[in-house]
Amino acid sequence: MDLDSCGGPPARKLLYDYLGAGSMSMQSDQSVSPSRIEAHPQAPRVLSIFDDPNDPAVAESISSTLESNHIVGFPRCPFPLPNPADLQILRTELPTRLKLKNVSYHGADGRLTGLEANDPARARTAAVLGEHLEAVCAYLRQVAPHLSAGTVLTKCSFRPIQERGRKLKPHASNELVHVDAGAYGATDGDRILRFFVNVNPSEDRVWATKGDIQEVLERHGVRSGLLDNDGRCRLRIRKNPADHAFTLTVRALSRLNPQAQSLDSSPYDRAMRRLHNYMKDSETFKADPRGYAEIRFPPGSAWMVFTDGVSHASLSGQFALVTTILIRHTALRHPQFAPYHLLSGGIRSCGTGSPG
Ligand SMILES: [Fe+2]
Repeated sequence: MDLDSCGGPPARKLLYDYLGAGSMSMQSDQSVSPSRIEAHPQAPRVLSIFDDPNDPAVAESISSTLESNHIVGFPRCPFPLPNPADLQILRTELPTRLKLKNVSYHGADGRLTGLEANDPARARTAAVLGEHLEAVCAYLRQVAPHLSAGTVLTKCSFRPIQERGRKLKPHASNELVHVDAGAYGATDGDRILRFFVNVNPSEDRVWATKGDIQEVLERHGVRSGLLDNDGRCRLRIRKNPADHAFTLTVRALSRLNPQAQSLDSSPYDRAMRRLHNYMKDSETFKADPRGYAEIRFPPGSAWMVFTDGVSHASLSGQFALVTTILIRHTALRHPQFAPYHLLSGGIRSCGTGSPG
């Protein structure tokens, strides 16, 4: 599907307009330099760079580019980062104290996970991550107030471990190209927005992508078991009465223990989890070079992206601030690009329906 033919934002044009102006670089299997992207329209199209992210004139472009499943890149983070002394504490203290995959501050209740309960670094870490989370949310309010108004949950994590060679189990590995799914209870079509900052003082953070979810489904939807040969989803996406009853039960439990919310699920989330696992498990997908590109994010740069809509992997890099904001599907201005719509409407459809 040509995104531009769907009445959506001119995101692809933005790519050509902005690539080469910033300090990020993209490498594809065509080995083109950023300055030559315009001469290679077959080059990957999922990165749009905004050199002046605080210019009110580009706010609409930023939010539309996001919704149409592009990575919105900023050569410099558009707001102040934690002070250097605090960042140095995170970089030096947390790698040896980590008890989970990441250290995370949860916006709903101020919980900090990933460190021992008696760890002396807890209070400072929570303060730094909490302040950064608020800065990200303020920026989202500035450039995309309609998305900000649809916030369901927020979380800010620090990633203290070098991504290359981390040897996590495949489904937990960041090194394998995937779309995000299934880690937030039942999203039922709500979208996963993430804001990344590379806070390594000297090392790039390197991502790989194989395109947006539309491209992934077009190439692998049938093989993954999600689509039939006509491009229709083989799985039920909408909730039935049993699903709604299960959700009500989980909601009741979560009043006693908020963490029970993660037990909830939905047909949509199970379908997305299936795609996520296929991308990490399938040797055919992993060996498929189509759409492959690597993106280097230098120190101090930032990027935000709906990670349920753009395939990605963290190939290398250490020390990143990663903020997750779950956005209500009803807040989208361009729901036709949402994975829920692509799955429930058929991959070749291009309407404007939203999740029901
Ligand atoms: Fe991911």
